[in-house]
Amino acid sequence: MERNPWSLGWIVLMCLFVTNRARELKVEQVGPDNEAVYNHTLATTLVEYASAVYISDMTELFSWTCSRCDGLTEGFEIIELIFDVEHCLQAYVGVATNLNAIVIAFRGTQEHSIQNWIQDLYWKQLDINYPGMPDAMVHHGFYSAYHNTTIRPCVLNGIKRAQEIYGDLNIMVTGHSMGGAMASFCGLDLTVNHEAKSVQVVTFGQPRIGNTVFASYYSQLVPNTIRVTNDHDIVPHLPPYYTLFPQKTYHHFPREVWLHNVGLGSLIYPIEKICDGSGEDPSCSRSVTGNSIADHLIYYGVKLGGETWGSCKIVMDQRLAKFGSKDLGGNFVFSKNPASLLQAGSETGSISI
Ligand SMILES: *[C@@H]1O[C@H](CO)[C@@H](O)[C@H](O)[C@H]1NC(C)=O
Ligand SMILES: *[C@@H]1O[C@H](CO)[C@@H](O)[C@H](O)[C@H]1NC(C)=O
Repeated sequence: MERNPWSLGWIVLMCLFVTNRARELKVEQVGPDNEAVYNHTLATTLVEYASAVYISDMTELFSWTCSRCDGLTEGFEIIELIFDVEHCLQAYVGVATNLNAIVIAFRGTQEHSIQNWIQDLYWKQLDINYPGMPDAMVHHGFYSAYHNTTIRPCVLNGIKRAQEIYGDLNIMVTGHSMGGAMASFCGLDLTVNHEAKSVQVVTFGQPRIGNTVFASYYSQLVPNTIRVTNDHDIVPHLPPYYTLFPQKTYHHFPREVWLHNVGLGSLIYPIEKICDGSGEDPSCSRSVTGNSIADHLIYYGVKLGGETWGSCKIVMDQRLAKFGSKDLGGNFVFSKNPASLLQAGSETGSISI
């Protein structure tokens, strides 16, 4: 049979057509349909996870019996708990079966007094280019806290183990203050470098972390992000936004949800304002002066921040030893499999208090 020289041409054309179509579809998905939808229940659940990660008693945290480990987070199972001694960072990865999700939480700063940490935020430079994103600048310190410490490899390992056990769960990343900055970098990392499909990021009182170009990349890549701000909380106002230098300034990514109260005297109503898609909605937290540390430390009535400031210590007891490992930098990682997986009588990985 004689070959029809056209058929191959058609196939090639068809492929081009199909790939083009596919590309178009992908772009379309980054439209309004895929934008973050604010879910009050989810935010008030995740704020409890962001609060619990401040607990310094590793045993209570690991067994999810700490004073902040109840309420909406009941039944959560940590599978990886990470404490970076060198940089004073803490994070965990676990499975929330009621959310059908892997939850990853990052602790905010603990090392200095919160006042000092906030003062430093005024002077942060946009000093490193986010890899692979031309002109996207971020702050080196925030970037490195996630990317250049024990935290990242351990978090990735925790997610991998959770997926091996549970299959394809949703991924939700959260954190407060600097922990929110780390949560954003984690959400972006999972999307860009690990092909995670629908990462959800919800942060509380996070600072700005990059410039306008970075914010634009971020919002395309991790559209399902909610950045909760509270009333006059000072931290979301920092590092400063310079209206006169839009190309040079730090710039938040969307979508902000601004919690504040309206009313007078005894008639006060709490409002949750869903802000515009710019990241810097002038009618949200930017409409007020950021002058409150108190507003930084409580979101939805949940206390965020350490039980004591200025110390980078952890407490643990002997029962934890068998789950832990320590690297050369003195950093701790505790790993276990969720108890729900264990067969009766098996001892592997269960901790009972
Ligand atoms: C909001 O989140 C909660 C908890 O994850 C979930 O059960 C509920 O279905 C969500 N609501 C909507 C409208 O998505
Ligand atoms: C990562 O940390 C190491 C050691 O602290 C340092 O030498 C290196 O420059 C850091 N890299 C980045 C990209 O920050």
